[in-house]
Amino acid sequence: SAAAIGQSVIPIVNKLQDIFAQLGSASTVELPQVAVVGSQSSGKSSVLEALVGRDFLPRGSGICTRLPLFLQLLQTKTKQDGSDEEYGEFLHLPGQKFYDFSEIRREIEAETERQAGQNKGVSHTEIHLKIYSPNVLDITLVDLPGITKVPVGDQPSDIEAQIRTMILSYIKRPSCLILAVTPANSDLANSDALQIAGAADPDGNRTIGVLTKLDIMDRGADASKILLGKVIPLRLGYVGVVNRSQQDINNNRSIKDALAYEEDFFCKHHVYNALADRCGVAQLSKKLNQILVRHIKKALPGLRSQISSALVSVAKELASYGQIAESKEVDPCDGLTDDDIRTAIQNATGPRSALFVPEV
Ligand code: GDP
Ligand code: NA
Ligand code: MG
Repeated sequence: SAAAIGQSVIPIVNKLQDIFAQLGSASTVELPQVAVVGSQSSGKSSVLEALVGRDFLPRGSGICTRLPLFLQLLQTKTKQDGSDEEYGEFLHLPGQKFYDFSEIRREIEAETERQAGQNKGVSHTEIHLKIYSPNVLDITLVDLPGITKVPVGDQPSDIEAQIRTMILSYIKRPSCLILAVTPANSDLANSDALQIAGAADPDGNRTIGVLTKLDIMDRGADASKILLGKVIPLRLGYVGVVNRSQQDINNNRSIKDALAYEEDFFCKHHVYNALADRCGVAQLSKKLNQILVRHIKKALPGLRSQISSALVSVAKELASYGQIAESKEVDPCDGLTDDDIRTAIQNATGPRSALFVPEV
């Protein structure tokens, strides 16, 4: 599916986000961030775009991602008339809504030049972009500059160390899922992505291997051994993908088209057609979703007890006013509607309480 993360919606998340919406972001289920790491031109930005299902990132054969891009996807409700309003908003341009996603790309490029110059320089300054859409699940994706060895343009001589430090500062967070992107036309044993992911996540609990460019491997070669975990095993496994080539991009091939092409490529391939659960952007999205669901399930008992104690204190307060005759020894959440719970929490805690939600 195109808007991959979005379409496999987890209803419970939406409901929880609804309930907690008015309490401020700190009280919602905090979903993990998903960061992409890998060498330059390995296909990181392409993978992110395919997951979002929209075209909006600078892409090309050279270094394009020169600032960390914080991409917050925020789910909105479909409008009454059924139309999907999707737009982006930059932190550095408050109040300006971008409905045209190619303008979003131009603004990322412009801001990159403002912050990191015109000559391939890299900067730590983050770009913060929110995308509002009914077709996404609330989640934060992070696009990072690729690992590069040889300085070019304005890059300092220690560019490799600087970029590694920058990447590690994001992926060392225990709540960060790491998409370790390696192009299939290079040697997995030398993968910068797996190397840096391994440094931040030595137990491999939050690293997903992504193998890009399966379409341009040497003739006769295939990635089945890697995908099956027989080369470098990863606990969360690998997903192979085919994204748009530079030629496709130059020809304005749409993401929708590219996803259809990818599906067809895997179906018709004599090796990959037997590995359907490890191939394709839709599978990658499914994997991410499964991890998110696990995360949410872990957070639920904590949330529930917070709701319960909020309700208990409301009940006590009401009782102290003599409005409740007797307290019942029942689960205070039983039989309540979302509205009841929302009202109760608001009454008990005020509009901006920061309920603690445990991490992964
Ligand atoms: P990044 O530097 O890691 O963000 O890589 P990009 O996503 O910008 O991709 C680098 C180049 O590789 C671009 O020209 C893409 O069109 C191309 N590319 C990315 N993924 C694939 C793929 O799966 N197949 C092919 N043929 N080209 C790809
Ligand atoms: Na690139
Ligand atoms: Mg990039």
